[in-house]
Amino acid sequence: MAPGIHLPALLALAAVTGHATAAPHARAGATCNTVQYNFPAGTNKNDPRAEAVKQAYVREWNQYSKYAFPKDDLLPITHNGTNDLFGWGATVVDGIDTAIVMGLTDIVEQQLKHIASVDFTKSAYIVDFFDVNIRYLGGLLSAYDLIKSGDFAGSYDDDLVEALLSQAKSLATAISPVFDTVTGLPAADLNFSSQQIEQSTTTVNGVTYNSTNTAQAGTLILEYYRLSDLTGDESFRQNAQKAEKYLINPNPAPAFPGLVGTELNTDTGDFITFDGGWEAGVDSFIEYLIKTYVYDRDDSFASDMKDFWITTAESSIQNIALSPYQNPQLTFLSQLDTDGNIMWTMDDYACFAGGNLLLGGKYLDRPDITDFGVKVADSCHWLYNHTLTGLGPSSIGWFNGSNQPYDSSYNTSTYRAEAAKNGGYFIEDAAYASYPEPLESIFYAYRVTGDERWQEYNWQIFNALNTTRSKAVPYAEITDVNAPYGGELSNYVASFYFAEVLKYLYLTFAEPDVVSLDNFMELFNAEIKEAMGRWNSGDNPNC
Ligand SMILES: *[C@@H]1O[C@H](CO)[C@@H](O)[C@H](O)[C@H]1NC(C)=O
Ligand SMILES: *[C@@H]1O[C@H](CO)[C@@H](O)[C@H](O)[C@H]1NC(C)=O
Ligand SMILES: *[C@@H]1O[C@H](CO)[C@@H](O)[C@H](O)[C@H]1NC(C)=O
Ligand SMILES: *[C@@H]1O[C@H](CO)[C@@H](O)[C@H](O)[C@H]1NC(C)=O
Ligand SMILES: *[C@@H]1O[C@H](CO)[C@@H](O)[C@H](O)[C@H]1NC(C)=O
Ligand SMILES: *[C@@H]1O[C@H](CO)[C@@H](O)[C@H](O)[C@H]1NC(C)=O
Ligand SMILES: *[C@@H]1O[C@H](CO)[C@@H](O)[C@H](O)[C@H]1NC(C)=O
Repeated sequence: MAPGIHLPALLALAAVTGHATAAPHARAGATCNTVQYNFPAGTNKNDPRAEAVKQAYVREWNQYSKYAFPKDDLLPITHNGTNDLFGWGATVVDGIDTAIVMGLTDIVEQQLKHIASVDFTKSAYIVDFFDVNIRYLGGLLSAYDLIKSGDFAGSYDDDLVEALLSQAKSLATAISPVFDTVTGLPAADLNFSSQQIEQSTTTVNGVTYNSTNTAQAGTLILEYYRLSDLTGDESFRQNAQKAEKYLINPNPAPAFPGLVGTELNTDTGDFITFDGGWEAGVDSFIEYLIKTYVYDRDDSFASDMKDFWITTAESSIQNIALSPYQNPQLTFLSQLDTDGNIMWTMDDYACFAGGNLLLGGKYLDRPDITDFGVKVADSCHWLYNHTLTGLGPSSIGWFNGSNQPYDSSYNTSTYRAEAAKNGGYFIEDAAYASYPEPLESIFYAYRVTGDERWQEYNWQIFNALNTTRSKAVPYAEITDVNAPYGGELSNYVASFYFAEVLKYLYLTFAEPDVVSLDNFMELFNAEIKEAMGRWNSGDNPNC
């Protein structure tokens, strides 16, 4: 999710649609691979848990609306807002799809009006390409698709709905100078006033390179495919493929097949680090490999992406899926260091892997990969289940098969005692910053297996979110998952709290045909896993 290696998450064309291809064609003669469990009719009908999550959205939206609208993010303790994401109203744009799915029509109307009023071609800030894609383009396109599907409550002004698409196109066009590098790998940032790109740099062995990271270059292709399909303008797809090509043909070869590092040289397209895994800096690149194929499996480029995903999944099972010393019940996905060595550490972002493996394993009829996804999802749930607050830490480490840690700084009696108590791992960073990834994997596990224990897990986490921290401000981020009430509160509510946390919770308790995995795909859920698009109205798109 996060593009920076160690950065936490904090970090008009209205008329064109008429002749555009809105979705890939139905696939005559192909076999149907249904992803979702065959739930009996009436499953989850009127489940009060879904209503409780919806009420949490209403309550917290009202706080945002009162104190921060239309700034990017709510500061819940000082009761104001901050423009930390270019000043276009990130919480509105990122969070609208959840409100559409929940049928919160008054809120959606307020959100649509704001979106239509923004000039996405202007910003006083340095604009980060990654956040543009995952929060803004993903949010705009998913809202457009969801409303157009006609499956959700509410009838909205046509001009406001069409503005979602025209705004997406004008924003994607405004940010397009980032592709103007030697290789076409996107630069990290653009100064919107001067139109100058700003390159990140990475220094390895004393040499400094212009660089981008894997998540940054690999978390746009779904949005760009969708934008080309909806507008008929192929330049978006072409730019995205040009960048993606370097990622799925890595040079030099990664330390383990399919497990590419986080940094690439934008002047040559070569990888300059070998720190692979499913963690921040790589994460949503892997996620998009399979989702792009599910979106358009007749596309040969997407098929190459799928092949790379299979290599990544198989290599993960073989090389980085590891259990802590004497705790075979847990399966973690290790990150690699910049030289490609196993670190026996994992961050929360990597917890999206369970859901992604379940989706791809089921879609491709690979039970070995599906079973592996269940193990990873269970292990991430364990992390949440074994803290005082019921919320999970930002990162953990563990003692390996020889009872050794990666780094001698972890070799302390405190970490050893913690590991003995917890199941072989210790908490490296105890903060919880509204992470959606385990919730996402638990949601997938429920929808794919039909096993109600997963609903219990997400209900426990909802209660932890809703009550453990309610002493002061229930939706603020916390500094210590093992301290009463989470330790210190942080004065911040991320847009993805609305976009992802509450969405995955809601969908876990909603009727399974609400955003069925067989009719919808969470297409745009970059690191943010926020948005959803539909590709084949009415039909099972897997056929
Ligand atoms: C929010 O309010 C606090 C306290 O009044 C103030 O210090 C801070 O500067 C405000 N933040 C913004 C971004 O306006
Ligand atoms: C962005 O470009 C404008 C216009 O050239 C310049 O005044 C401003 O300083 C730049 N911003 C940053 C943060 O570099
Ligand atoms: C980065 O790219 C700029 C031009 O785009 C070039 O002037 C500069 O030398 C490059 N920096 C490095 C470290 O290669
Ligand atoms: C852990 O799971 C058990 C069994 O589902 C449950 O009773 C308990 O409340 C959970 N603990 C936390 C902290 O979530
Ligand atoms: C555990 O880590 C130590 C220290 O890095 C290493 O020597 C040993 O081979 C590792 N054991 C396993 C089973 O990976
Ligand atoms: C950890 O401590 C043990 C015993 O004190 C020692 O044998 C081992 O080499 C240490 N491992 C690391 C990675 O520092
Ligand atoms: C969530 O918190 C609110 C505010 O404290 C409370 O009114 C509501 O009952 C809680 N929901 C659940 C399911 O506990």
